[in-house]
Amino acid sequence: MAVYNFDEIIDRNGTNCLKVDALQERYGSSDLIPLWVADMDFKAPPAVIDAIIKRAQHGIFGYTRPSQEYHDSIRNWLDKHHDWQIKQEWTSFIPGIVKGIGFVVSCFTDRNDKIIIQPPVYHPFRIIPTLQHREVIDNELILKENRYYMDLEGLKKKIALGAKILILCNPHNPGGRVWTKQELIDLAEICYDNNVLVISDEIHADLAHKGHKHIPFATVSDKAAMNSITFMAPSKTFNIAGIVSSFSVIPNQKIRDKFHAYLESFELEEGYIFAYTATQAAYQHGEEWLVQAKEYIWGNIQFVDNYLKENIPQIKAMIPDASYLIWLDCRDLNLSQPQLEDLFVNKAKLALNTGTMFGKGGEGFMRLNVGSPRSILAKALAQLKDAVNNKLQK
Ligand SMILES: Cc1ncc(COP(=O)(O)O)c(C=O)c1O
Repeated sequence: MAVYNFDEIIDRNGTNCLKVDALQERYGSSDLIPLWVADMDFKAPPAVIDAIIKRAQHGIFGYTRPSQEYHDSIRNWLDKHHDWQIKQEWTSFIPGIVKGIGFVVSCFTDRNDKIIIQPPVYHPFRIIPTLQHREVIDNELILKENRYYMDLEGLKKKIALGAKILILCNPHNPGGRVWTKQELIDLAEICYDNNVLVISDEIHADLAHKGHKHIPFATVSDKAAMNSITFMAPSKTFNIAGIVSSFSVIPNQKIRDKFHAYLESFELEEGYIFAYTATQAAYQHGEEWLVQAKEYIWGNIQFVDNYLKENIPQIKAMIPDASYLIWLDCRDLNLSQPQLEDLFVNKAKLALNTGTMFGKGGEGFMRLNVGSPRSILAKALAQLKDAVNNKLQK
């Protein structure tokens, strides 16, 4: 069995990657450890790299269609990993999940229509509808003992304002929650009964850690299946976000026909050579890599949690059920958000995502990406410890 080396430090400088090469632009300095945008500093599974090289060596990159194996690889993956038996016709290629959200907003709502999100949450959920002149309504998550819960009573009140769509982050980013079946059933019931279409963004689905099982929203009840559009992708799972390959799954024919017709009217359902190649290779041959990657990530999460407890008790990690993102509760430092950002960026020399980016409830938090070699995290945490100690001594 192959053993993958996640300790390897790979220089990403000069590859036009957002995480490293945009530091100066985004944070005002390139001399920072990049622990922000959600991709990992690990090489993709060798099977993916080999498949891309093999296809590239052919040398002709003409118009391309998805193979039957590509479709089968998606169906088999969802069946095996998420107990979801889908039909091929339920799916469509989409060029990215954020774009997919934009397409749904555009296809199913009109200007000034209301869209519900549950912050703190992945910021494009707010940005994309806002840019399309829709009104975003916040149904803030409830924070209880360092864990988030959906406010379903609050949701009923917000829905009464006349919303058309709810965007669900399943599993949740930045809180890392894998929602329970009952939570999803309750959500589905409220949304179905009130004619609110659910977009379920399941990009982090494959990254649930031991003891947690991701549940696709559409599988929890008929009401969920008949009233949802699910987005999934191999991008976070296998660290291939730059290849841009995602897909939608829509069991309800009426919703599907409308969405597919929208996609076809711009030819958006047509994928790309390397998207098809990488997706198929990842789903067919990437499983063992993923098992080892998740073990390594889980080790990183434990490492960060223990380090904070022992050395920086003012910062508390919210242990994610899924993903390589840790929501850090920094409220005990008693700093304003600009002061917190100054501490991380200018004093500790670290680039994390600031909590307020994720909307309401994000004040006092920072989001840490632990998809990096552990030695880099160790260095980052030591810098953070020094910065916090210096701050406290002043
Ligand atoms: C919840 C969530 N959805 C979507 C994305 C981005 O997806 P895509 O690159 O396919 O637009 C991310 C990336 O961080 C994410 O966390």
